[in-house]
Amino acid sequence: MKIGIVGSGAMGSGIAQVASTAGHEVILSDTREAALETSKNKLQKIMNRLIEKSRVEADEAQAIQGRIQYTTDNADMASCGLVIEAIVENLDVKKQVFKQLESIVSEDAMLASNTSSLSIASIAAACEHPERVLGIHFFNPAPLMKLVEIIPAIQSDPKVVETARQLINNWGKTTVLAKDTPGFIVNRVARPFYGEALRIYEEGIADFATIDWAMKDFGAFRMGPFQLMDYIGNDINFTVTETVFKAFWYDPRYKPAFTQKRLSEAGYLGRKTGKGYYDYSPEAMPPAHTGDTKLGIKIVNRVVAMLINEAADALYLNIASRDDIDLAMTRGVNYPKGLLQWADEIGIEECVARMDALYHEYLEDRYRCSPLLRRMARDGATFY
Ligand code: NAI
Repeated sequence: MKIGIVGSGAMGSGIAQVASTAGHEVILSDTREAALETSKNKLQKIMNRLIEKSRVEADEAQAIQGRIQYTTDNADMASCGLVIEAIVENLDVKKQVFKQLESIVSEDAMLASNTSSLSIASIAAACEHPERVLGIHFFNPAPLMKLVEIIPAIQSDPKVVETARQLINNWGKTTVLAKDTPGFIVNRVARPFYGEALRIYEEGIADFATIDWAMKDFGAFRMGPFQLMDYIGNDINFTVTETVFKAFWYDPRYKPAFTQKRLSEAGYLGRKTGKGYYDYSPEAMPPAHTGDTKLGIKIVNRVVAMLINEAADALYLNIASRDDIDLAMTRGVNYPKGLLQWADEIGIEECVARMDALYHEYLEDRYRCSPLLRRMARDGATFY
């Protein structure tokens, strides 16, 4: 099957590499000639690095590059069986592109969006045949991140969803099925990792370095929240948070933090600008953490309780299955273990007690315990 990819930015280029590596002919389009040129050059560099590391043979690398055709004309996608859109995150522009694509591809072609925050139903609504539209959400960088969220819109034909899921599985990815709701699985369930860490900082309970140290040393997370936000970029991370917050009709659980907004406004975006929560200039000394074990454990317990609560609530609201929620967090953002499995290990009653302690302390809706956890604690149930 020939694969079309619209938008040759960070995501489109990565997805093109994945599809071509899986053996597909790929048509990669962009409105800007310069973006196509950059994409082509980047792939050349990536392939050279993979050859150096003996991860691919030179002729294989050449074949991968050879299977990608670069174009500014979406009309070249006429014979594609699946087109994945990865353009600017703007609903009107995406709708226009889907409408145009439908007039180009054959009747049985599948159309997918890689959107992080828009509803698939709203994109599908632009089409005459919305049943062929679905969300296929890759993570950045697409060639390295194992997880792909598959999102059926209410209009999607289940057969289309199943075919697309099988295809992406064959590309060596782990797929999970998510309901068409803001943030899907990962960008919803992960919010407290950033948000609660920021809240703990804003309350003056601990500094960035201590929170990061605690989450890594006692929580076994690969990166601390501030380190990760600097890596992702504070502009991008803040936008995702703000988008999810608004999309949930201002649910205080997802409230963004002024600390991050100000960093973003100041241009302290993280690694890419040399400064974020941390200073990345060559002469900068990494700040020391306090080494206070008791405080460290308290921080981890609080953030993990919030994460578990979010995961439990996602299950409660049928956003995804138990297994897919745990897979999404271990494969999509490399959490040390699935949050629902973690809940079982901590004990459901203890999870409820931690949430209730926060709730009684602050009397904020932000800290409300998921009804599912409360019910499970009452019944002595476990997730596994
Ligand atoms: P990007 O800004 O790197 O690339 C977007 C590309 O689309 C640009 O090259 C632009 O010239 C092109 N473009 C814009 N309008 C177009 C049109 N009408 N037709 C053809 N090409 C057009 O953006 P990025 O980061 O690759 O994101 C693309 C999509 O993927 C967005 O919907 C974003 O929400 C989503 N996404 C982004 C992730 C990330 O970490 N960057 C992760 C997962 C999803």
